[in-house]
This record gives sequence, C-alpha cells and structure tokens, in this order.
Amino acid sequence: MYICNSVRQSIKIIQHLEVMSSLIIKSFAQYKKEYARSVENPEGFWAERADEFVWHRKWDKVLDYNFVDYQTQWFVNGKLNITENCLDRHLATQGDKKAIVWEPNDPNDAGQTLTYRELHAKVCQFSNVLKSLGVVQGDRVCLYMPMIPELAIAVLACARLGAVHSVVFGGFSAQSISDRINDSACKILVTSDGAFRGNKEIKLKDIADEAMSSTPSVEKCIVFKRTGSFVHWTAGRDLWWHEEMAKASVDCPAISVDSEDPLFILYTSGSTGKPKGVLHTTAGYMVYTHYTFANVFRPGKNDVYWCTADIGWITGHSYIVYGPLLAGATTVMFEGIPTWPDAGRFWQVIDKLKVNQFYTAPTALRSLMGAGLQHVAPYSLSTLKVLGSVGEPINEEAWIWYHKYIGKSRCPIVDTWWQTETGGILISPLPNVTKLKPTMATLPLPGVQPVLLTPEGKEITENNVEGLLCIKYPWPSIIRTTYGDHERCRATYFGLFPGYYFTGDGAKRDEDGYYRIIGRVDDVINVSGHRIGTAEVEDAINKHPFVVESAVVACPHPIKGQGIYAFIICDRTIVSEKAFKDEVLLEVTKQIGAIAKPDIIQVVPGLPKTRSGKIMRRILRKIAEGDISNLGDTSTLLDPSIVDVIKAGAPTLKGK
Ligand code: WT7
Repeated sequence: MYICNSVRQSIKIIQHLEVMSSLIIKSFAQYKKEYARSVENPEGFWAERADEFVWHRKWDKVLDYNFVDYQTQWFVNGKLNITENCLDRHLATQGDKKAIVWEPNDPNDAGQTLTYRELHAKVCQFSNVLKSLGVVQGDRVCLYMPMIPELAIAVLACARLGAVHSVVFGGFSAQSISDRINDSACKILVTSDGAFRGNKEIKLKDIADEAMSSTPSVEKCIVFKRTGSFVHWTAGRDLWWHEEMAKASVDCPAISVDSEDPLFILYTSGSTGKPKGVLHTTAGYMVYTHYTFANVFRPGKNDVYWCTADIGWITGHSYIVYGPLLAGATTVMFEGIPTWPDAGRFWQVIDKLKVNQFYTAPTALRSLMGAGLQHVAPYSLSTLKVLGSVGEPINEEAWIWYHKYIGKSRCPIVDTWWQTETGGILISPLPNVTKLKPTMATLPLPGVQPVLLTPEGKEITENNVEGLLCIKYPWPSIIRTTYGDHERCRATYFGLFPGYYFTGDGAKRDEDGYYRIIGRVDDVINVSGHRIGTAEVEDAINKHPFVVESAVVACPHPIKGQGIYAFIICDRTIVSEKAFKDEVLLEVTKQIGAIAKPDIIQVVPGLPKTRSGKIMRRILRKIAEGDISNLGDTSTLLDPSIVDVIKAGAPTLKGK
C-alpha cells in the first residue's frame, strides 16, 4: 500500500521511470505472452499496472462487474487523486521537463510552454479559484473553451477537487451547450471571450451567454481573455479568469477520491434521442489511459508527442491530457487548424517543435493530401518516429500517403480503434512490434477481448469473417453509466447481446486474426471522425416550419469520410429551394452546430415507408451512396413508386 508520505512518495517517484519501461511491450512474442496473461488473469495483470501509481489507499479488490444489469468497478475501495499522478509525482524527478507545449493558431504569435512544475502550480491555483466559488467534490463544471493551456488547466483543476468536468467542444451551438449543462446541472461554466480558428474568430462568450439564458444551475461563469474582443458582462455572475487567478494561492492539496468516483462526463451522440453523457470514473481510466498511451505511442524520455484532436472529444481527454501527463511525457496542444495559413501547417509545427509521435485523423490527412505535396516538401519531418490515426476507418490511399510522405516509409502507423465509451484505445498495432497491414487496426491490446457476433448474437470463432464487434470482458476504462440514465447505458451497450458490450461497429477479421473496422451499423454517422446521430439532425431539421418529416442517412464524402444526406418532406411547394435549404442549414447550425450541417438536401414528396409506418432507411442509404443496382425487396412498402420519384430527384444519381 502506498501512503502519500514524502519518503515513500519519493522512492515511488524514482522507481517510476524504470517501472514505466517495464510496462512497455518490446516484441511480438512478449505481446502474445502478455495478452495471454491478461486474459487468464486479468486482475493480476491490471493490479501490476495500477501498482506504480500513488494511492492514498490501495484497493481491496481489482474488479467487480456484471454485464446483466450492468455495473463495473475497478480497484474497489481504492483512494487516490489522478492529478497527483499526472503532476505531483513527476515534480521531484522532472519538474522542469515540458509538460505542455502550446502552439497558437497564428504561426506568427508566440507559443507557450508549461513545465510540470508550472502546470502543477497553475492547476493548484485554478482549483483554489473553483473552491472559492463553492465547488466541492462531485459538483459538475462545464468547460467550453478553445485549445489553450487553460483548458487543460481547468480539466485538471476539476479533477484535483474531485469535481466532474464536462467539456463541450467549441464548435457546438448555444442550444447544445445548454442541453449538456442542464442534463448534468453544472454549477460553473468556464469559457473564453473568443476562439481563433484559422482566419476566423468565434465569439464563445456570446454563445455561452445565449446558452446561459436557460441554464438555471449555472452560478458563475469564468471567462479567459483570449482574443480581447468585446464581451457582454453579467455582473455578479461573470468573472475574469486572470482576476480570480491573481487572488489564488498556488498551494492546493489534492482531494482523496474513491477509485469509482466520477472523473468526467463527455456527451456523445447515439442513434436515438439527445446526446448521452458518457461517464468515466477515476482509477480504471487512469490505469488504462496511461498503459495504452505508453505502449501505443512509446515516447522516449525527451520526446515530444502531438495529438491534433480537440480536448472537446475523448481523444483529447485521454491522449492530450491524461495519458501523456500520467506518463510524464511532453504533450503538444495546438489551437489552429490544419489548412491555415496553408496546408503545410501540421508539417511546419512538427519541424518547429521536433515532434516524435504524431496522432491525427484520416479526414485531416485526406484534406492535406488533396492540397498537394508542395505543402509537405519544405519540411524534413525527420524527428517523427510513430504516426497515429483515429476516429474513422482510414482508407488505403490515405494510409499509404501518410506512411510514404509523412513517415518517409520509416514510421509505423498505429491505426487506433476505440470510442468515447471505451475511454482508451482497444485495438491497435504496437509500433515496431505488430506487423502492419494498411487500413487494419490489427490486434486487441492486452486486457481487451473482442468478438464478432452474428446478428442473432452467436459468436463467430473462425477467421476471414465479418460480424458485429463486441467486447466480452471489461477493461479498466469502460463506460460506467450514461449520466442520470443508467437504463439507457444498459440497454444501449449490454441489452442487445446479453453478456457482451456492443460497440455499434461492424468489423472484419482476417486470416491472422487482424481486425478491420468497417464502420457503424447503427443510425450514427461518422463525419470527419465525429459522431452525429441521425435522429438529432432530423429533430433539428423538423424544427423548420415547412418541414413535415425528414430522414437523414450517411453518404460517402471524399474528405469527411461520411457526409450527411437529408431527405425532407415539406408541407408546401418550395419556391426557392436554395433559400429553403439555407434555412434548414441555419436551423441545424443553431440546434447542434456547424459540424452537423447536411451536405446534401433533397426535397421529396414522400419517404419509403413500410405499412407499419417505418422508414426503410436501407433504400435511402443506397440512394445516398449513389448505388441503386440492388435496392432489395421493396414489396413491403406502402407505396413502392415513391422510390422511383426519389431516385429521379437524387443529386447523387444524376447522370447515372
Ligand atoms: C467511433 C467512435 C475514439 C476517438 C474518436 C472517435 C469510429 C474510431 C476508428 C478507427 C475505424 C474508428 C468507430 C467508433 N472509429 N476509431 N481507428 N478505425 N473506425 O470517438 O466519437 O466515440 O466515435 O469512431 O465507428 O465506433 P467517438
């Protein structure tokens, strides 16, 4: 048991680096061995990986779970604080190492670095700010911020107090923010005056103000000054970040929380209803994000690691903030976008900051690929060692381009498959350990037991098959609940195939047991690696006064991977289709955010419905894909002729 006293603490810290290297899998034979052990003795396996952390009280039992009414507990009755493991424990050995390197939106502006010591001090200070505003353990705090170090500071400051952060991506609308704040009754909202994105400024505070007009739980709004532009001010509610920080002490002991106390809520879309608040707890999430970060990216002691995601998504939580800091790595935070001032921005930053591990999304690669190699040519990219991909299936062309032109054929690509609900990477190659095959996420990490099921729920044991991807045993960072609605969590993930966690993805398994993720099998669209529920987009479209009904499906998109295709029935003749479509786009932007705007809108006189009134989405998907060679059986439709009418008006089929 590790009591947090200074002598034992420092022994522990000195041991840390050695322990870390012993956790790293160095050969394929070792991977096989550790994988086998993680299946035979999961509790022993994870106990070893948890042992290197600082605990206020060690756990009584490693795992307690059932997949029936669904509950999972890891490191039962353990007590700890994740920020001590991210920050305090590194101070003695590497307090002056860079923790965060911040690259601003504009390449001409000065960046910023925070050492572990500086980050620790700022986190403590902001914890004290939150404390002074009455935030106590268990309170929810909403963070709606740009990609600036203060976002990471705010995340960690919440965790230090045992408060639950709910980060809302800066691209979401006021309506989306207030829905999320209200769902979990957040007490504080932290935002900034504005955010820079390329040559645009987004007025975050204006959007936050609009959201706060319907969020009775919010008591205070803390505003970081980023852009310096005008903000409206509500006296008594709004507070400047810098003014509160100036008053706060840099000393803030970490609260001791239970292993299973909530760490954060992150909202994500499902196939039905409003986004759900995926809840992750403390110890299991800590152990798993650290272990997977260390093994999948394998940063050396002086390496610089860069994940281009936004902290508003799970990738940013697990692999910009928690995983890297737990491992004592140097993590880059990038405020900008890949294509501004030009499509060489990523490559320029890699050279400038001497990035060694680079983690991005296929959609970014495809857009940069399209911009041409002249944007890559000026940069050497010689520091790169490992390249990562996440968020959606990576197509072969993008994989090969990434490997050849960015990795110069010498860097392994880790195609990491996982989800908001899984907390960390579940299926991925290990660099220089797993033999790569382009477009394949390859093999499960130790502790992960994937299976493919038939639609009837039967396990498929042979290889060279396709099926529904499920996981049959818990891993430490599995979702614990959907906030405020445990039944939704149980039904969504454990209800369909009893005894299994259902991912919502379809996958293939080849002769080597390698997995290739095909994509979602539910009504979720993956737009640029972001999950958009079709029901949510339909609800937004249906708010337009002319709309009677709508149906939204995915269509192929050369950059985004999948685009959004909306079929809409109106109650009147549309005089100007352009004006109507613009209004629909505006409505979706208002209800959800620009990321959910349909790429194609088709006004239709009717939808293909069965006699029981169910929309046959299969047919709409085929039309959206521009493939009508086999529409299947349409005889059960109430009015089969509607299919021909839709086909005739489909922009995707024009000219076919
Ligand atoms: C969905 C989860 C995990 C962080 C980002 C997205 C798809 C994710 C891959 C990959 C193929 C992938 C899946 C999954 N996905 N990574 N490497 N190959 N598909 O998190 O928003 O929770 O979305 O993204 O369809 O279910 P998310």
